[in-house]
Amino acid sequence: MTSLVLTGIAELVTNDPAMGDGSDLGLIHDAALVIEGKRVAWVGPAVAAPQADSAHDVGGRAVVPGFVDSHSHLVFAGDRSEEFAARMAGRSYSAGGIGATVAATRAASDEQLAANLARHVAEMRRQGTTTVEIKSGYGLTVVDESRSLALARQVTNETTFLGAHIVAPEYAGDPDGYVDLVTGPMLDACAPHARWIDVFCEQGAFDVDQARTILQAGKAKGLGARLHANQLGHGDGVQLACEVSAIAVDHCTYLSDADVDALASSGTTATLLPGVEFSTRSPYPDARRLLDAGCYVALATDCNPGSSYTTSMPLCIALAVREMGMTPGEALLAATQGGAGALDRDEVGHLQVGATADIAVLDAPSYLHLAYRPGVPLVHAVFIEGRQ
Ligand code: NIG
Ligand code: FE
Repeated sequence: MTSLVLTGIAELVTNDPAMGDGSDLGLIHDAALVIEGKRVAWVGPAVAAPQADSAHDVGGRAVVPGFVDSHSHLVFAGDRSEEFAARMAGRSYSAGGIGATVAATRAASDEQLAANLARHVAEMRRQGTTTVEIKSGYGLTVVDESRSLALARQVTNETTFLGAHIVAPEYAGDPDGYVDLVTGPMLDACAPHARWIDVFCEQGAFDVDQARTILQAGKAKGLGARLHANQLGHGDGVQLACEVSAIAVDHCTYLSDADVDALASSGTTATLLPGVEFSTRSPYPDARRLLDAGCYVALATDCNPGSSYTTSMPLCIALAVREMGMTPGEALLAATQGGAGALDRDEVGHLQVGATADIAVLDAPSYLHLAYRPGVPLVHAVFIEGRQ
């Protein structure tokens, strides 16, 4: 196995409180990091760095764990820029716009969908994302959902069956019939390509009872549960996520005290998606409240053509700091270790010895610049599994 030592690291974020300054970020100044094969083999002060087969000087930059984007919808065709413009002119967001992307996605060839997917994954990678979760949900037929997941599986193992995004147009008068399809033939066709199952539990999509039925069917097939909930208003989705031990509940924009208590006493991660509030001009979720209550919190892009058409985790970090009460350190943790928790992955989202060598080198002396310099392309280089 060949080894590579990264030198010239002005600031290394390990996310290991046992390292460096002892903070949650485990910051080491004037650091080095050794990669052996796909793994981190050593981290510590540069003066103590061991020899390696080769060396790479990062030139006084900051090095952080690659971002873990635990929520995206990248299998789609078309764009909804007109819908965005209408919102910015005063119209409000509703789940209804999803139907436009469903029509465009069904009409697209596999090659078109794969090309769009590859373009967005490359865009994410350029911005420091090294792990991405991708959902289906714009097909809503057995064939279109399963091909969406098969395409997603070609770029990530973190694939999520979201046949229950909205009720398919063919079932507009028969939502229970659609739930039967999702939990029956569609689940059978999709489960082999998916690790997770998700439901959009919201007014205009699926209610809590339908969501429970769908998540339980998915769990019976071996899929892990995750949920979209409490995005557009208060509701029982967060409670359901905790009840079924979902790994994550995403959006969490409207939370009661009971929701926060339920999250705090569960293992479920609250995933906050500030690109949505930005793009729908909505009030941001209160990350401070969740952190102060002791909840697990993740940040993700929710990249999709409707409610959040960004692939940028640095943008989400900046918004979380400016608008949601997070410190820059908390936001970086949520975008790395938090995302890893939301995908039940312990070998990514940090740079402790043994971690997968998924690394972002920043064009900045400190991780603080991710929030301090919003909108600036700060990712200088990315390593995935030790390779640039
Ligand atoms: O996570 N909330 C549901 N689904 C997406 C939006 C999808 C769309 O508008 O196309 C979301 O925000
Ligand atoms: Fe989403």
